[in-house]
Amino acid sequence: MSNPSLLILPGDGIGPEVMAEVVKIIDWYGAKRGMAFDVSEDLVGGAAYDKHGTPLHDDTMAKAQEVDAVLLGAVGGPKYDNLDFSVKPERGLLRLRKEMDLFANLRPAQCFDALADFSSLKRDVVAGLDIMIVRELTSGIYFGEPRGIFTEGNERVGINTQRYTESEIDRVARAAFELARKRGNRVCSMEKANVMESGVLWREVVQKVHDADYPDVELSHMYADAGAMQLCRWPKQFDVIVTDNLFGDLLSDAAAMLTGSLGMLPSASLGLPMANGRPKALYEPVHGSAPDIAGQGKANPIACILSFAMALRYSFDQGAEATRLEKAVEQVLADGLRTADLLGEDGVTPVSTTEMGDAIVAALDASL
Ligand code: NAD
Ligand code: IPM
Ligand code: MN
Repeated sequence: MSNPSLLILPGDGIGPEVMAEVVKIIDWYGAKRGMAFDVSEDLVGGAAYDKHGTPLHDDTMAKAQEVDAVLLGAVGGPKYDNLDFSVKPERGLLRLRKEMDLFANLRPAQCFDALADFSSLKRDVVAGLDIMIVRELTSGIYFGEPRGIFTEGNERVGINTQRYTESEIDRVARAAFELARKRGNRVCSMEKANVMESGVLWREVVQKVHDADYPDVELSHMYADAGAMQLCRWPKQFDVIVTDNLFGDLLSDAAAMLTGSLGMLPSASLGLPMANGRPKALYEPVHGSAPDIAGQGKANPIACILSFAMALRYSFDQGAEATRLEKAVEQVLADGLRTADLLGEDGVTPVSTTEMGDAIVAALDASL
């Protein structure tokens, strides 16, 4: 049987820096756990635009459709900010999500004990936090038509359209309920049914899916603005949150700060099962290309490394190995290692991206 295949797309800014640390982890699993992957690498985002004039070459798109899992670093940067929308780096990532039909974006926010004092919120509020945001990823205002900048009379108008079909809501709701059953068995669905028709439909469909097939899961509904407030007030009230594409984008960045840093939050974007039974999948950190620190060896590689742990769990059925990797991360943090984004006022000298990756590999070694 051939090895499972991985396509690595480091992208832009700190993307290649954090991905280099993930490659060390992949190599460790090959050498020490007999889990070899067939790894190929390609360009996405600004890096692809520089070479091909497009943020995602058709050949790369085709490769992404064939592999068992895609790992992506980050895309974008100031150099590309004024490009036409059709070729912006972010469009490369959006095309991958859309064409692979990765509708369920899992964004877990877990607060490691060693970082509980580092969150901008009080220790009590975040210690032991373990929530899962399920963000709908292939529809909503990100993709709705009509969209564009048009001329109306003597001025321009910018238009984006929020749009959800029943089946799009149905399938992401099911993903959230399935996950909840394996965790705390609670789902909170967030929309703005008070002002948006798409929110009314969202609430109705989520409730219907629940009543028909998941009555054992506790379901609540919340307006997304109140949800943002509750996420800061007492985040531990949540288990699984299911929400649309745009609200999920905002809420997951906010949730990142509960864990100490945006550099900590991984994600899995999952689609329908392929012929081999594995879901179509792309794994990436929640953060972006961080142009302010790119090229300085300061980036925290943990979000990207934990994204690979999610790949082990969701694509390769290696839950125990995923836990091993998560424990290795927890260990280096407990040992006091901190990249610059995780520093408080305590005078600790930060470690570099590479040093953090090496320490996690050493902790993996120690776990054997
Ligand atoms: P960002 O996530 O890149 O950075 C926000 C802040 O968090 C910055 O101060 C940055 O230094 C810090 N940060 C982020 N990741 C970090 C890490 N791993 N270690 C340490 N610090 C980290 O968001 P932004 O500045 O709003 O966007 C920059 C570019 O990235 C834009 O072009 C945006 O479109 C793109 N972006 C891409 C993705 C993605 O590829 N998935 C996600 C978000 C933003
Ligand atoms: C994210 C990012 C992306 C999004 C951008 C880069 C397209 O912010 O993955 O959270 O808005 O979805
Ligand atoms: Mn985002």
